[in-house]
Amino acid sequence: MELSIIKPDDMHLHVRDGSSMQSVIAHTAAQFGRAIIMPNLSPPVTTVEAALAYRERILNALNKDVNFSPLMTLYLTDSTQVSEIKKVAVSEHVKALKLYPAGATTNSSAGVTDIEKVYGVLETMQEHQVPLLVHGEALSDENGHAVDVFDREKMFIDKTLYPLIRRFPKLKIVFEHITTQEAVQFVNAAGENVSATITPQHLMYDRNAIFKGGIRPHFYCLPILKRKKHQLALIDAATSGNKNFFLGTDSAPHSRTSKENACGCAGIYSAHAALEFYADVFEQANALDKLEGFASIFGAQFYGLEENDEYITLRKEPWHVPEVYDFGSEVVIPFHAGETMQWKVAL
Ligand code: DOR
Ligand code: ZN
Repeated sequence: MELSIIKPDDMHLHVRDGSSMQSVIAHTAAQFGRAIIMPNLSPPVTTVEAALAYRERILNALNKDVNFSPLMTLYLTDSTQVSEIKKVAVSEHVKALKLYPAGATTNSSAGVTDIEKVYGVLETMQEHQVPLLVHGEALSDENGHAVDVFDREKMFIDKTLYPLIRRFPKLKIVFEHITTQEAVQFVNAAGENVSATITPQHLMYDRNAIFKGGIRPHFYCLPILKRKKHQLALIDAATSGNKNFFLGTDSAPHSRTSKENACGCAGIYSAHAALEFYADVFEQANALDKLEGFASIFGAQFYGLEENDEYITLRKEPWHVPEVYDFGSEVVIPFHAGETMQWKVAL
């Protein structure tokens, strides 16, 4: 069996920097035309100038004959200036700002400490239709009490997102890597200008995967995997044909030693076979006809881009995922390491 679709885009991707980036970027460029590149480097990418320099480093890490375009983002901080937003609004290559609540995830310590501190900047983003990409997890409730790790997304929706869309009804928002039924409901209830990305891991697993027969660090990411009912709600949303849900892998490579560790990092590396993972999910949901919209059309539309002009072919052809891939001077354990996958992108 074969399936040809418009070449997809990965609308949420971490590629790191330096030799680590050199190791992983070709995987994405082999199957995606473009990718929205996350800015949570250390130090974070907070200016258009830094984003354009990062973009050059990404392009330089690729073979010259590869047709791949990195779409850059800036890391929103309490001190982001309105003047920087105006630069983004006219930039060809910088597309959006990423909101990390301070402390919510990897390299988020420079994130926003209180959403009200960035209201001025959000006003300008709304005016210029610059998208806000949201890591939607709240660490504390309205009373300052700590929130359970499995409830942080729901808390963020109630505490921050509903007030945000009431105050900025025209702001373009991507609720990134959604993990709950409540997030699906939020996107469905919000306007056309609010979309969400969904990762392969949140479509393929529920939270039991983290504890199956022992603690499994390679299933640990943030937001953390949730209950089965949430996984099923995400599958329904992704395969529904609703254009407000589109592909974003959140592929987030960490070295094997930083994952298999007494305090392991959050992040799952899925870029090596991202489209194959989604194809598996869509086939099992009897919705392969909906894959192209989700992977190749809706994201581009949201960002105001043309669809890619190439096509890509997926074949039903069992293959084994390697146990490891190189990652700078170390290795990274890929999603589904050592397992047999049913779909393969024909390269
Ligand atoms: O699991 C995650 N890893 N979630 C994030 O939000 C960040 C990412 C990373 O950069 O490693
Ligand atoms: Zn991410």
